[in-house]
Amino acid sequence: EHQKRKEKRKRGEFVPSNYEISIVRKDGEVRHLNVFRREVIWNGETQFQVLHEDITERKRAEEALRESREKYKELVDFLPQTVFEIDETGNFVFANRHGLETSGNTQQDIDKGLNALQLFIPEDRNRVRENMRRILAGERLGGTEYTAMRKDGRTFPALVYSVPITRGGKPAGLRGLVIDITERERAEEALRESEERYRTLFDSSLDGIAFHNMEGRILDANQAYLDMLGYTMGEIKKLTYLQLTPKKWYKTEARIVEDEITERGYSDEYEKEYIRKDGTVFPVSLRRWLIRDEKGKPVGIWGITRDITEHKQLQDEKAEWERKAHVASRLASIGQMAAGVAHEINNPLTAVIGYARLLQTKKDIPGDIRQDIDIIHEEAQRVANIVRKLLAFARQQKPERKLVNINDTISTTLDLRAYSLKTNNIEVTTQLDPDLPMTLADASQLQQVFLNIILNAETEMKLAHGKGKFLVKTAQVNNNIRISFEDNGPGIAEENLDRIFEPFFTTREVGQGTGLGLSLCHGIVAEHGGRIYAQSKLGKGATFVVELPIIL
Ligand SMILES: Nc1ncnc2c1ncn2[C@@H]1O[C@H](COP(=O)(O)OP(=O)(O)OP(=O)(O)O)[C@@H](O)[C@H]1O
Ligand SMILES: [Mg+2]
Repeated sequence: EHQKRKEKRKRGEFVPSNYEISIVRKDGEVRHLNVFRREVIWNGETQFQVLHEDITERKRAEEALRESREKYKELVDFLPQTVFEIDETGNFVFANRHGLETSGNTQQDIDKGLNALQLFIPEDRNRVRENMRRILAGERLGGTEYTAMRKDGRTFPALVYSVPITRGGKPAGLRGLVIDITERERAEEALRESEERYRTLFDSSLDGIAFHNMEGRILDANQAYLDMLGYTMGEIKKLTYLQLTPKKWYKTEARIVEDEITERGYSDEYEKEYIRKDGTVFPVSLRRWLIRDEKGKPVGIWGITRDITEHKQLQDEKAEWERKAHVASRLASIGQMAAGVAHEINNPLTAVIGYARLLQTKKDIPGDIRQDIDIIHEEAQRVANIVRKLLAFARQQKPERKLVNINDTISTTLDLRAYSLKTNNIEVTTQLDPDLPMTLADASQLQQVFLNIILNAETEMKLAHGKGKFLVKTAQVNNNIRISFEDNGPGIAEENLDRIFEPFFTTREVGQGTGLGLSLCHGIVAEHGGRIYAQSKLGKGATFVVELPIIL
């Protein structure tokens, strides 16, 4: 450049007197200089006066400013929100790219003159105008929500922040930010909806749901929980779940809270009991899980509780039916086996008894051997007796039904035992319903049933106290005849109540009972379409009840 200027001057061409040059300092740094060059007459000669002004700093500042402007513009254009400037009349001076895109306007629209009011729905314009005035007057408004309107008429919720621009101490316009809050509103709405959905679930759940803090105090509960326990919300919030739990569950539940809920965050389903406000206790099944705060610290436990009273009852009933079916099938199979065994024993037994009799009639037998033969005969008779009972039990004869007056059958059976009962100090009372209807039944089979029951009572009372009281009642209950035999003997242990009807169940000493009496009764009564059961408490006597359908 320097060389060119020199040559131009030599040729007499025009060279500007003010230009810039760059120089290299001794230390290698480049600096920029502004050169002013002018002709002067010095000592009568034409000379040049050259002024060098170092403009390096100014150049740098200019560069920095340019860069900063670019950076700012880039950033502003890059922002996913609208940035704007308007003058004091509301006309747009500037809008960033996002602003133009979302409002549907172009730079030309702004250049032609676009007023901010046009970007809001008409209903909001007065408010916008008023707020603009207030901000220009120096008031700080913070974010304000409006409904913004695009050029195509579509609207969206907007949050606007703006501050005044002042020029020469006077307000010259506004500068600010517009945030499209459609997403935020949608998220809020979604959250509200989801909360509502869960609240509805919570409120309408048939299972009780409750939340308590780590001290056990109940903080929230749904209607089902309140109904189940009989408390109001106000009352339940003053309680801890332990106050609702019978003491005997404390240990088990504390173990579940420690080992399951705090360890891994939830419990398996488990059963316990709760106490209602009225003091009644009922069984529940529940499942609980731990709630932690953002820092992971446990803050409480949620629980879903179900009242399982009915479920338990059903389970008990089912078990009862299963037990009954079991007894019945056992009776049947034992009956078959008993019949077989009895027949097998009967033939050899007849021979034993026959030969024993034959020997007894012989004259030439020594006395001590005769005694042995008598014992053989007696014991064989006992075996025969057992076999007879077995057969009776096993035969399961169809009853031969005739019209029977049950009161009469009872009376004759009692008469059979009258002497023995009296000698055993047993006081017999009867309350026989004189209006008892007749029914079709096998009288001799029924007599066997009654006899077995009377014999048992007699034996038990004699063994226990050497005396006793015996009450026999008959009555019509619905379409049944109910006969009950009540004694004040030793009673039956609860665990035996179910077993006494099983064949061979006996508490008597060996040789004293076969345990077939009541199973025989059971078979006969069942064959009549009725039922037999015992009610008793150990030490409080026993009552045997026979119910027979009235068949005419
Ligand atoms: N009235 C009663 N009081 C107390 N226990 C009774 C009474 N009746 C029956 N039992 C109990 O029921 C058991 C079974 O009675 P069951 O009549 O079937 O047999 P058993 O009397 O022992 O023998 P078996 O009648 O065959 O000679 C008895 O051993 C006894 O323990
Ligand atoms: Mg008996």
